Amino acid sequence: MERLQKYIANTGYCSRRKAEDLIINGKVLVNGKIITELGTKVNDNDQIMICGKVLAKEDKVYYLLYKPRGVVTTTDDDKKRKTVLDLVHTNKRIYPVGRLDYDTTGLLILTNDGELTNLLIHPKNEIDKVYIAKIKGILNGREIKTLEEGVFIDNLKTAPCKIKVKKVDRKTNTSLVQVTIHEGKNHQVKNMFSAVNHEVIKLKREKIAFLDLSGLKAGEYRKLTIKEVKKLYSLNNKNA
Ligand code: URA
Repeated sequence: MERLQKYIANTGYCSRRKAEDLIINGKVLVNGKIITELGTKVNDNDQIMICGKVLAKEDKVYYLLYKPRGVVTTTDDDKKRKTVLDLVHTNKRIYPVGRLDYDTTGLLILTNDGELTNLLIHPKNEIDKVYIAKIKGILNGREIKTLEEGVFIDNLKTAPCKIKVKKVDRKTNTSLVQVTIHEGKNHQVKNMFSAVNHEVIKLKREKIAFLDLSGLKAGEYRKLTIKEVKKLYSLNNKNA
């Protein structure tokens, strides 16, 4: 389910702002009923009419991008920097699912499917996001336990997560640490390490659920297969 104004905008019919105007002004019917309330939830089974014409449904598309460093995860950057949308060639109005920082690399899904987006980003679905972080220093047992149990970021405690130290380099005093989380708050992994006084030097997202970066170099992308999309949807069922 997706908010009506967002659903309309995602079909490419108009912007979200314009869609809100149309709804407020009584120009939008859902299953034959005028809807003037913003935020009404709809999905592909609903028939939407705008100004007397049935809204055509856009085919859903799904891309897996290996985001390189130095690219912003947004649909439009006010500083005119390169965005992840500049890397994926499509005429559909896709958007990124969640966000990777400018200097973070790794797996990013882009789609025009709001329902799948919600499924992937909502912490209640417990979809694993696996990161590999190069950090300054070496974690001790207490710090690992603290991270796994949850740390406070802006007065909110992070959900339990899994920490695995993959490599320790005593010469450079750095470590490679795998972090598996379900949440996706802004700068979450960096802030988690910062809470235990370790700085993240490099960060890469290696996996989302069963998807990984196999076969792709930084900057490359591929379409998800139908089987993969179905498998992602099935992740919801286990929590239904
Ligand atoms: N956590 C971060 O700190 N940055 C990212 O880009 C993703 C997760």
